[in-house]
Amino acid sequence: MADTMRTYLSAKEIAELNRQLGERITADYKKILEPGEEVLVVVTLKGALFFSADLLRHIQIPTRIDFVRLASYGSGTKSSGTVRILKDLETPSVGQHVLVLDEIVDSGRTLDFLLGRIRADRPKSVRLCALLSKPSRREVQVAVDYLGREVEDKFLVGYGLDFNERYRNLADICALETK
Ligand code: IMP
Ligand code: MG
Repeated sequence: MADTMRTYLSAKEIAELNRQLGERITADYKKILEPGEEVLVVVTLKGALFFSADLLRHIQIPTRIDFVRLASYGSGTKSSGTVRILKDLETPSVGQHVLVLDEIVDSGRTLDFLLGRIRADRPKSVRLCALLSKPSRREVQVAVDYLGREVEDKFLVGYGLDFNERYRNLADICALETK
């Protein structure tokens, strides 16, 4: 079995998207944060590992960082409706400005579940930032407040994205064609 890969977004293009997202996020939160307030950044593991590390260094406002790891039951590249928590947040969202970071929104089911849980905790605000979105695959509507780029329905790997846990460490995002 040979995997064919084509560069879809280069490391340079990704860096530019991160810079733009960071600037927008910084400008917006500077308007809404009151003195002494900070943003609780929720990073979705494992995929958003590199995205969050790069983006966060472009965010010039006080932050606190927490991690969550979710999995949806289902086989292969399709996610089912059921989401379970593999690692929960350690910081309560109550009264916080919460900014969720995900590297890609696909069906929207995982984020719908996560955002629902966070909202139930009565945060002061909740926003979502995603590097990529595949709108053609959406099953549940999820509002992406900060989006890097829309992408076609291709299976992508690299920059945190995996295929069976492989390829996460590629610097570029590549389209994977399995033969
Ligand atoms: P959703 O619940 O279907 O939106 O799934 C979201 C998660 O599935 C993403 O955060 C990724 O971890 C994973 N995912 C979605 N599309 C891709 C892809 O093209 N390559 C690798 N992982 C993906
Ligand atoms: Mg993810």
